[in-house]
Amino acid sequence: MKKIYSCELIMKTELCRGVYDYVVKAPEISELAEIGQFLHINCGGKTLLRRPISICDFGEGFVRFAFQVKGEGTTELAKREVGDMIDIMGPLGHGFKTTEGEKAVVIGGGIGVFPVLGLARRKNTAVFLGFRNKDMVVMEDDFKEACDNVTICTDDGSYGYDGFAIAAMGEYLLENKADIIYCCGPKPMLKAVKQIAEHMNIPCQLSLEERMGCGIGACLTCVCKTTGTGMAEHKQVCTCGPVFDAKEVVL
Ligand SMILES: Cc1cc2nc3c(=O)[nH]c(=O)nc-3n(C[C@H](O)[C@H](O)[C@H](O)COP(=O)(O)OP(=O)(O)OC[C@H]3O[C@@H](n4cnc5c(N)ncnc54)[C@H](O)[C@@H]3O)c2cc1C
Ligand code: FES
Repeated sequence: MKKIYSCELIMKTELCRGVYDYVVKAPEISELAEIGQFLHINCGGKTLLRRPISICDFGEGFVRFAFQVKGEGTTELAKREVGDMIDIMGPLGHGFKTTEGEKAVVIGGGIGVFPVLGLARRKNTAVFLGFRNKDMVVMEDDFKEACDNVTICTDDGSYGYDGFAIAAMGEYLLENKADIIYCCGPKPMLKAVKQIAEHMNIPCQLSLEERMGCGIGACLTCVCKTTGTGMAEHKQVCTCGPVFDAKEVVL
């Protein structure tokens, strides 16, 4: 099935320095989208390969994504203005698998907070978001609107909880039961969350980030190591993930 669409940019906001929040008109994508899936975006300029960006939110006819300017692709993407058309492939990959009625803990770090916004809207959810400092805190209002139990953490203590989101989550889990942990963030956060989940025997799903080429399982740029053997020892993050059961991946 064709999954490439030309989508009009209908809202553009700079959330903090170099971090942009885009809303595009994308009825075909929003109809199929699931929390945790991603878009593969042709950023324009001289870039040949698309760049993967998570779906942050979606609704009737629109998809929202947010990104930090890192290199050539995201620099080009940040130049787009409202009314411009953006070439987007998606939705791609497998998102978070949720269960009705579960008591969930959601933890995100840095740009990893974007794909977990949809999870924050579910009942019985506690959310922990980690940022380097106060200036880098983004989408606080969106998360607080979505959920009444949100802890914002900063590594340097300049805002909210003073310390890593993992520490805040750990303290919470000592006092509260959780049926599942969902996480998206930098590798050290994923590793720590996986360890805590294993130690406390709580099921856990992690959203992984690897550099990508094709985004559709053909080039093997994005493989991650898994606990499987033989051919199953490595899996493509683009098609088998980006969300994996924590027990399945080796970090
Ligand atoms: C499934 C998935 C979802 C993502 N969702 C988001 C999102 O919602 N918002 C967002 O800001 N970013 C997200 N990313 C990361 C984003 O794809 C990269 O930042 C982007 O591709 C960089 O492209 P560039 O051309 O600007 O930079 P490049 O010139 O390609 O790279 C600039 C720097 O970023 C590093 N880099 C590039 N790609 C990755 C990657 N995948 N993981 C770690 N480091 C990388 C490079 O090593 C280099 O140091 C996601 C990545 C994946 C795989
Ligand atoms: S990006 Fe090509 S196989 Fe995943």
